Amino acid sequence: MSKSTLARLLAREFAVIGWGVKIADMDISQGTSFNWASRRLQNHIHPEIPVQQYGSVSKALAEAESLDLLVFDGAPHSTAGTKEIAKSSDMVVIPT
Ligand SMILES: Nc1ncnc2c1ncn2[C@@H]1O[C@H](COP(=O)(O)OP(=O)(O)OP(=O)(O)O)[C@@H](O)[C@H]1O
Ligand SMILES: [Mg+2]
Repeated sequence: MSKSTLARLLAREFAVIGWGVKIADMDISQGTSFNWASRRLQNHIHPEIPVQQYGSVSKALAEAESLDLLVFDGAPHSTAGTKEIAKSSDMVVIPT
C-alpha cells in the first residue's frame, strides 16, 4: 500500500519548487497516477504534473535526460521491468 500515493506526493512536492518532474505510470491496467493527473487537470489544480503511461521501462528512461526527476509508479507485482527500474534509479521506495 502507498506506492502510488508516495509517487504522487514526491512528484507534486518537487514540481512545486520548480523541478522538471514527470511520473511514469507503469501500472497500465489501473492507471492510478494517470487518473489522478486527469482529475487535477479537470479541477484546475496547480502545479500541473505530467503523468504518462508506459508499456516499457526503456521508453520512459529515454525521456529521463530532459527531466530533473522521473518518478516511477510501479505495478503491484514484480516483473523484469521492476528490476530494470531499480537498477536505473537513485532511490527505491518499497512501502510496507
Ligand atoms: N499512509 C496512508 N494512510 C492511509 N491511507 C493510505 C495511506 N497510503 C495510501 N493510502 C490509501 O490506500 C489506498 C491504496 O494506496 P495506493 O494507491 O497509494 O497504493 P499502491 O501501493 O499504489 O496500490 P497498488 O498496489 O494497487 O498499485 C488509497 O486509497 C490511498 O489513499
Ligand atoms: Mg499503485
